[in-house]
Amino acid sequence: MFRYVLAHAGEHPALALAQAPPGLLSPREEAILAGLTFLPRRRKWLLGRWAAKRLLGELAAEDHGLVAGLVRNEDWHRQLSILNDEAGVPYVDREGQGRLLLSLSISHRGDWGLAAIAIEPGACIGADLETVEPRDPALVRQFFSESEAARVGRTGGRDAERTIARVWSAKEAVLKALGLGLRHDTRDIVVGDEVDAPAGVAEAWQARGIRLAPVLAVRIAPRSLTVLWRDLDAHVMTVALLG
Ligand SMILES: CC(C)(COP(=O)(O)OP(=O)(O)OC[C@H]1O[C@@H](n2cnc3c(N)ncnc32)[C@H](O)[C@@H]1OP(=O)(O)O)[C@@H](O)C(=O)NCCC(=O)NCCS
Repeated sequence: MFRYVLAHAGEHPALALAQAPPGLLSPREEAILAGLTFLPRRRKWLLGRWAAKRLLGELAAEDHGLVAGLVRNEDWHRQLSILNDEAGVPYVDREGQGRLLLSLSISHRGDWGLAAIAIEPGACIGADLETVEPRDPALVRQFFSESEAARVGRTGGRDAERTIARVWSAKEAVLKALGLGLRHDTRDIVVGDEVDAPAGVAEAWQARGIRLAPVLAVRIAPRSLTVLWRDLDAHVMTVALLG
């Protein structure tokens, strides 16, 4: 269904310094990085490119059909650019060939960068990484549906923090898969109970039922939406697949 790489800033000393590891970026990406002057933004942006290119390299090493031919020579990192369209959606661009038909999603939190690619041709992916941490109660009041807020209310302490991270992460992942981002009302995506995960998904992932408001449901029809999340020590990672 999908593949992902969760990369850490400690994987290359340059990343922690908000500098590009030698040979990682294409000339177009180097030009973008030169325009990013805010240090935390540079680090995040670089971590996303690092994770995405690691993922492309891994898929190529497995001789995966999706990236066959993309990663043929040693200079492939410099021939592929991870760019963003006008809505912010990331995509892979190949020098001289333009945007590739491959759905990529990126998220970054602290020292971690997540990149995920949909394996089925034509599928769209949204991926999100959230930290499990204390949140302003206004987040739940303003951005969660009644049933989601009630679920948070039934838990307490660290459990509540994890529930909030899971729900928020699922909303962001869905909005990314739809190419919308947080411009859209997050209450139009209601995260429901656990459902059976599709065949072939590793055990660590849990599937959740999602109810979409009509305005979003018409956007995805007749395709189906699958939302999977995975608990990590201090994070929650979610993948939404539209296929
Ligand atoms: C998209 C959004 C939900 C990301 O949330 P976040 O928690 O701040 O950040 P994350 O680290 O999880 O994700 C950031 C990544 O989301 C991706 N992204 C941005 N907008 C996106 C969209 N509309 N659809 C899908 N993915 C998007 C990008 O790859 C971005 O990383 P990059 O800029 O380094 O490539 C949020 O930034 C948003 O909606 N912003 C409002 C829209 C906006 O300002 N877009 C920018 C236009 S250029």
